[in-house]
Amino acid sequence: MNGSQQCLDLFAKIFLNSGDPVGMERPGYLGAIEAFSLYEPVIHTVPLEDKGLDPIAFESLVKKDLPKFFYGIPNSQNPSGRTYSQENRKAVADILKSTDTVFYEDDAFGELFFDARPRLPVKKFLPDQAVISGSFSKIVAPGMRIGWMYAPKEIIMRFNVVKQAADLHSNFLSQMILYRYLTTNNLDDHIRKITRVYQRKCRLMCDLFDDFLPQIAHTHPEGGMFLSATLPPGISSRVVFDEGVRQKVAVLPGLPFYVDGGGTDTIRLNFSSAPEKQITEGMHRLVQVIRRLGKR
Ligand SMILES: Cc1ncc(COP(=O)(O)O)c(C=O)c1O
Repeated sequence: MNGSQQCLDLFAKIFLNSGDPVGMERPGYLGAIEAFSLYEPVIHTVPLEDKGLDPIAFESLVKKDLPKFFYGIPNSQNPSGRTYSQENRKAVADILKSTDTVFYEDDAFGELFFDARPRLPVKKFLPDQAVISGSFSKIVAPGMRIGWMYAPKEIIMRFNVVKQAADLHSNFLSQMILYRYLTTNNLDDHIRKITRVYQRKCRLMCDLFDDFLPQIAHTHPEGGMFLSATLPPGISSRVVFDEGVRQKVAVLPGLPFYVDGGGTDTIRLNFSSAPEKQITEGMHRLVQVIRRLGKR
């Protein structure tokens, strides 16, 4: 696939017609909201909590709204950085077993576990009713645009048809380069190296929040690239974004990750790309912005 983003588009193309119900986490990955929205479904959401999907809300959605599929990111979710517990994955699979809803498991961050103890995928508990997609973007290079999907045969056969209609095939040169990279480098070593660095940077960001803005609740990622924080009452994420840009510190306001207009008090922060010195400086600027807005 041309990145795992293409899997989202093609999957929606296969499954969704205008007005069809589909489920996803709240907050949800912006790129999936965009990809699905083009097919005009009705998007229903389930709150994503520290240990995964709220099981009661999930069961109610699946049984009442009958979504064609439910899209989730059990590992280091974008935007929250949350990871479903093993029990939550099993509960999600058990609930789906008695329904026709397919589970779309987006595993874009699955290799980026800090503690190297990944949980079993939901697909493991639901082999014939789940698909899983992944990406080389987060572990090799996003510019190569190479992603993959693992799905039951009937779904793959439908996928082949829409993939061919979309672009005939993914770029061969990129795939050859990736093949050469994978066969001449130790990918596991590389992943160990980057996750060690990401873990340090994530901890730094969390510690700075705890030291300077202890009233702010933030997630505690076990992997991935993002964490999210809830702003003190009365401070809008949009205003923090605007003020932050003026101070040259970038955070993403939560709004686009909520299909129902929520997220006005949440921000997403990336800890993987900036060096530690820049993270420290950026967090100090962000702290000043939030403190100043809190005094208004
Ligand atoms: C959760 C998630 N899924 C899929 C993607 C798409 O990645 P790519 O198309 O580069 O594989 C991203 C990109 O950030 C993502 O965060």
